[in-house]
Amino acid sequence: MLFFALSIQLFIIPVLCQYGCTSELKLGKQCSQNKTSTKWYFDSKLSFCYPYQFLGCEEGPNSFESSDICLESCKPADQFSCGGNTDADGVCFSPGDQSCKKGTDCVMGGTIGFCCNKAIQDEWNKEHSPQCQKGKVVQFKQWFGMTPLIGRNCSHKFCPSGSTCVQGKWTAHCCQ
Ligand SMILES: *[C@@H]1O[C@H](CO)[C@@H](O)[C@H](O)[C@H]1NC(C)=O
Ligand SMILES: *[C@@H]1O[C@H](CO)[C@@H](O)[C@H](O)[C@H]1NC(C)=O
Repeated sequence: MLFFALSIQLFIIPVLCQYGCTSELKLGKQCSQNKTSTKWYFDSKLSFCYPYQFLGCEEGPNSFESSDICLESCKPADQFSCGGNTDADGVCFSPGDQSCKKGTDCVMGGTIGFCCNKAIQDEWNKEHSPQCQKGKVVQFKQWFGMTPLIGRNCSHKFCPSGSTCVQGKWTAHCCQ
């Protein structure tokens, strides 16, 4: 029995969290051999992948070629959390479900819903449909279409050259 428990654990842990996903982000070092490029890292605090500008050399372990590869490698497939990676306060079954406590709203996460703090969720949603005071929000192509390019922090220099980074509470976007 103990043997089984151990072997299951040894098998599951690397699948759920590949080496590197929990490491701190390293932007690398500038060097003459390699140019800078956009790469993606897994942010443990928000439990999501965000772009950063890799300087070209001395790449850290928490670094992936694309958003999809990063998410596949690092984010557990069935994980759901409310905006800002905050905990849900109960489950529910449809948007507008009355079973959620006052101050929380039912947010669907696949087939079931979660009661999420309404104020945080509204603020989170607003930050994820960003607007620019000047110019347009920079988008990027994903398999399902174009979406706003959302980064974690302007200090990660993920905005394409010629655009301006705008920092929000949790994440940042680019205006051009
Ligand atoms: C340049 O990038 C390549 C590919 O990512 C890497 O293998 C190589 O080590 C880098 N060069 C240096 C000097 O770090
Ligand atoms: C962005 O990064 C800077 C420098 O690392 C840090 O001081 C700041 O708190 C970060 N902002 C957010 C919103 O995470």
